[in-house]
Amino acid sequence: MSEGSGRFHKLDAMRDALHLMSRIILSELPDDAHILCAGVGDGPELLDFAAANPGWRFTAFDIDQEALQRGQEKIAAAGLAARCTLHCGTIDTLPQGEPFDAATAFLVSHFMLDIDERRRFFSGIGGRMKPGAILLSADIASRTNDEGWLDLWGRMLRYALPPEAANRMRAALYDKVAVLTPEEVGELLTSAGFRAPRLFFQNLLMHGWYATRA
Ligand SMILES: C[S@@+](CC[C@H](N)C(=O)[O-])C[C@H]1O[C@@H](n2cnc3c(N)ncnc32)[C@H](O)[C@@H]1O
Repeated sequence: MSEGSGRFHKLDAMRDALHLMSRIILSELPDDAHILCAGVGDGPELLDFAAANPGWRFTAFDIDQEALQRGQEKIAAAGLAARCTLHCGTIDTLPQGEPFDAATAFLVSHFMLDIDERRRFFSGIGGRMKPGAILLSADIASRTNDEGWLDLWGRMLRYALPPEAANRMRAALYDKVAVLTPEEVGELLTSAGFRAPRLFFQNLLMHGWYATRA
């Protein structure tokens, strides 16, 4: 289990469930697998996978220098620095290296409001992966105008956050996040060069996708 996640700490069990299912899906990778973590923030998924797999190496990137700095400190405190390389920037600026055995993109791509940018993000990740390598992606997705799901999402935010912050975040959902339907996310992954995307995880609007690089 990874460390608490700041202001969303009341939802840590949700994130831990996503990480557990991810660890299971990745569990047959080689002992020396090299994993790419896209949009890693301060590193919760990397810290979790690295602790569970002592031979795996990680390359991670994010556009937020401060989040990466916090991640770097947590990685160092956990004694994992020798196995982790962090890069501040996008997939396009990530230095070229050996192709990856797997990649994760947890709660990143839905922030790309432009669908072509979002496709380029995934195709860029695929371009750094070995053929057949595993992609795990987690995104917010919903049926269009599904008030029932959106009500439950608002309830989750009110459970996790002070009322004002919860209401602000609920109101901003469609401004800050590109909410595609689950089918559209699957089609996006296919069009970006991934094979047979399938849902392996759902918590309200949060969906986890498993696919392999074609
Ligand atoms: C909600 S956080 C998720 C962090 C982490 N993956 C997690 O599961 O907690 C989304 C992260 O995506 C990063 N991000 C957004 N657009 C990005 C891009 N084009 N390339 C890399 N990172 C990006 C943000 O800076 C932020 O750290």
